[in-house]
Amino acid sequence: MRTIIIFESYEGQTRRIVERVAERVHAAGGSVGLFDASQQTAPLRLNTTDRVILAAPVHERRHPKNFELLVATSLEDLAAVPTLMLSVSLKAAFPEGRDEAQDFLDEMKMRTGFTPDRELLVAGAIRSDNYDYYQRQIVQHVLLHNVDVDVSDGPREFTDWLALRDAVDGFLAEASGGGSVVDLETSARGCVERS
Ligand SMILES: Cc1cc2nc3c(=O)[nH]c(=O)nc-3n(C[C@H](O)[C@H](O)[C@H](O)COP(=O)(O)O)c2cc1C
Repeated sequence: MRTIIIFESYEGQTRRIVERVAERVHAAGGSVGLFDASQQTAPLRLNTTDRVILAAPVHERRHPKNFELLVATSLEDLAAVPTLMLSVSLKAAFPEGRDEAQDFLDEMKMRTGFTPDRELLVAGAIRSDNYDYYQRQIVQHVLLHNVDVDVSDGPREFTDWLALRDAVDGFLAEASGGGSVVDLETSARGCVERS
């Protein structure tokens, strides 16, 4: 079984997530092709893949424009295979931010017309050592304004790697015709099925 992972990453966390996802695909005995939406040096060909996983971060309330454009221009191909969308954001790290994180994803789906078979809100990371003054202000005073996290404490990762693994393994099993293996606990952690 072949899986293509379409992704984009500004600061590296989504790339890390994609690397873990690729490990799970290999562990399930499949092959992986990675397609970075920010570096489209070759056309995206989805007609030889069995399933597609998409992963992109939220920056300033939206997923990257190149990523959205690629999704919007690939709707027919994406509709032909099982798809899992991973939306990476800082808001997803906190219970009080999950609704907003879902809004970012819903707005992306509305703009592109894409409806994934499954979707997961994935908590991202703070990379404070890479931020300029403007980015530091946004992260501290907009994204973290109501939670007790200080950007000046240094880089911090919020990604729940176990929840990610469970959701990806469930998707891979289903997409291989293995039936539903995503249990209620995983669903409660944010893996949503679309029928
Ligand atoms: C300038 C800036 C703007 C951001 N805007 C948002 C946002 O609007 N909503 C959100 O939930 N997270 C936001 N984030 C957090 C990122 O989604 C998070 O850091 C994620 O891990 C980035 O993924 P990447 O490393 O793959 O780029 C922002 C981060 C930065 C630095």
